[in-house]
Amino acid sequence: MKKQIAVLPGDGIGAEVAESATAVLQAVGHKFGHEFKFKKGLIGGCAIDETGTPLPDETLETCRNSDAILLGAVGGYKWDTLPSEQRPEKGLLKLRKSLDLFANLRPVTVFESLADASTLKFDIVNGVDLMIVRELTGGLYFGEPSERRGDAVVDTLAYTRQEIERIVRKGFELAQVRRKRLTSVDKANVLESSRMWREIVEEIAPEYPDVEYAHRLVDDAAMQLIRNPKQFDVIVTENLFGDILSDEASMMTGSLGMLPSASLSADGPGLYEPVHGSAPDIAGQGKANPLAMILSAAMMLKYSFHLDDEAEMIENAVVNVLKAGYRTPDIAEKDAKLVSTTEMTEQVVSAL
Ligand code: IPM
Ligand code: MN
Repeated sequence: MKKQIAVLPGDGIGAEVAESATAVLQAVGHKFGHEFKFKKGLIGGCAIDETGTPLPDETLETCRNSDAILLGAVGGYKWDTLPSEQRPEKGLLKLRKSLDLFANLRPVTVFESLADASTLKFDIVNGVDLMIVRELTGGLYFGEPSERRGDAVVDTLAYTRQEIERIVRKGFELAQVRRKRLTSVDKANVLESSRMWREIVEEIAPEYPDVEYAHRLVDDAAMQLIRNPKQFDVIVTENLFGDILSDEASMMTGSLGMLPSASLSADGPGLYEPVHGSAPDIAGQGKANPLAMILSAAMMLKYSFHLDDEAEMIENAVVNVLKAGYRTPDIAEKDAKLVSTTEMTEQVVSAL
């Protein structure tokens, strides 16, 4: 198989972890006889510095012409004071919107050998295997107006029926191929958008009779997630709720540095990025955990290229490297075999 992959390292540790993902993909390609061609593009703060905009047209074109996109992370102190339109994050948001990447899949899998690294008790998190399906191109992130009005300020939470329907369907479809339980998370006791969301879930549910579904309010869901996370299979939710719940859920895996994601549209190229940010405080020091990015590359093989065996091989390699005790600082317990970003990557490659 021949594929072109756009690689957008971005800022901070983005460059280091993107390097790890391409190394792992190259090794998998070599093993299975696939040809992965990588084409780099600028996004985020580094794009602002070089071109004056966080998402240059050239990058968007490269992405449109690729079979899938790998992205490191964007942002950093340096650009924190820029007006909102020129922030690095705008580049990422514009990319998601331009490619209509409405479905953000964030699997939360606790590896047994890491369950001790979680701040939650071993028995609570060991065996957790859930998937947050976050709506990614609507809601509060993209509502108009969003502006200052003197001493007042407004952000808008807007959705169309079609936008809600397609993400809810995605939630049901993913539940069907997993453990057939879907939790729709909203704030229907307060928000009109959530009441419409709930109605739509009710309308669509009969199309998936094999899936058991429930509604939960987002505050309750946040609490249930750390009280008893194993009750969840697939969670489908609005953009901002999904952003918050996925950071919360990442702590079960021991570190935000473990969580991969896939952002999918109806038919175009998918975007694969770690859930973590650019971590400017540790950038360039070889301390970044590359596993979220490497696992994102595995998701790319699975969801964009349907190379399930290859994806599974990467996941198994990660499991084995963790079992063997190798740890980047974010997941290191006492007596761990402390490794750098590149050493961790080399371990994964040799485990392949
Ligand atoms: C994420 C990030 C982004 C988001 C930021 C960087 C805009 O936190 O992917 O979760 O809020 O979506
Ligand atoms: Mn986030």
